[in-house]
Amino acid sequence: MSAFLSIRGLGKRFLSRGTVVRAIENFSLDIEEGEFVTIVGPSGCGKSTLLNILAGLYPPSAGEILFEGRHVRGLNPEIGYVTQQDNLLPWRTLRKNVLLPIEFRGGSASGGAEERVGALIRKVGLSGFDNHYPHELSGGMRQRANIIRTLVYNPRVILMDEPFGPLDAQTRLTLQNQLLDLWNDERKTIIFITHDLTEAISLADRVVLMTGRPGTIKSVTPIRIPRPRDVYHIHRSEAYREVYDKLWEELRVEVARVM
Ligand SMILES: Nc1ncnc2c1ncn2[C@@H]1O[C@H](COP(=O)(O)OP(=O)(O)OP(=O)(O)O)[C@@H](O)[C@H]1O
Ligand SMILES: [Mg+2]
Repeated sequence: MSAFLSIRGLGKRFLSRGTVVRAIENFSLDIEEGEFVTIVGPSGCGKSTLLNILAGLYPPSAGEILFEGRHVRGLNPEIGYVTQQDNLLPWRTLRKNVLLPIEFRGGSASGGAEERVGALIRKVGLSGFDNHYPHELSGGMRQRANIIRTLVYNPRVILMDEPFGPLDAQTRLTLQNQLLDLWNDERKTIIFITHDLTEAISLADRVVLMTGRPGTIKSVTPIRIPRPRDVYHIHRSEAYREVYDKLWEELRVEVARVM
């Protein structure tokens, strides 16, 4: 039987200013439905490129992607993408921004959709800000709006590219916690890229570590820390420290190689 999401022998080359850049090579990974996978790797190793291919924005140069055993080419409506920039429309209120994907899909912004939006807004602590415009929200609030906007149309897979990158440490922890709560309730399959090893371990069922460019898989580490996890104190656990040391040692070698 084939996995829920199967990435097989994926490769990507770019022709850039007359030279060929080998961004990704021979990347293969099977992901189960409902799994939370985080990806870490040195800068420029092809992490964003991988998500762009999974989202259907770029075609791969080699390999294939199977979704429930079927080949995927182009945009897949089952896949939602949360990028580092929030891309909220400045002229729409928070609520109207979150409703946007439903409007795009030709749904009406009434009934069930309105209710779901209201519930998601409450769940991430944005009650009372429904009618605020993006410039009236903090960075953390905008990123929460960005995430629930992706959840609202119920994609089965969510790709997240360093969604908490620009936020301060305190806000990051709060958002990690809320994301784990959302994931616990909705059991989406999440592929999450981060520079932060602690974040990668706190959230994941498995951490995928990539080599420097051309990016391929160096290791896949299952995280056996029991859930629900306390992201605020996870660094105190012995299991956390062990896995952190192992991953840091592997990552350090790759970062040094690239630099
Ligand atoms: N559209 C493009 N055209 C040409 N080259 C590209 C394109 N997109 C990415 N690349 C190249 O592919 C390589 C991988 O880039 P990518 O953005 O995927 O890295 P990354 O792992 O996300 O890095 P970071 O951690 O810094 O975000 C880089 O060398 C980059 O210059
Ligand atoms: Mg990137």
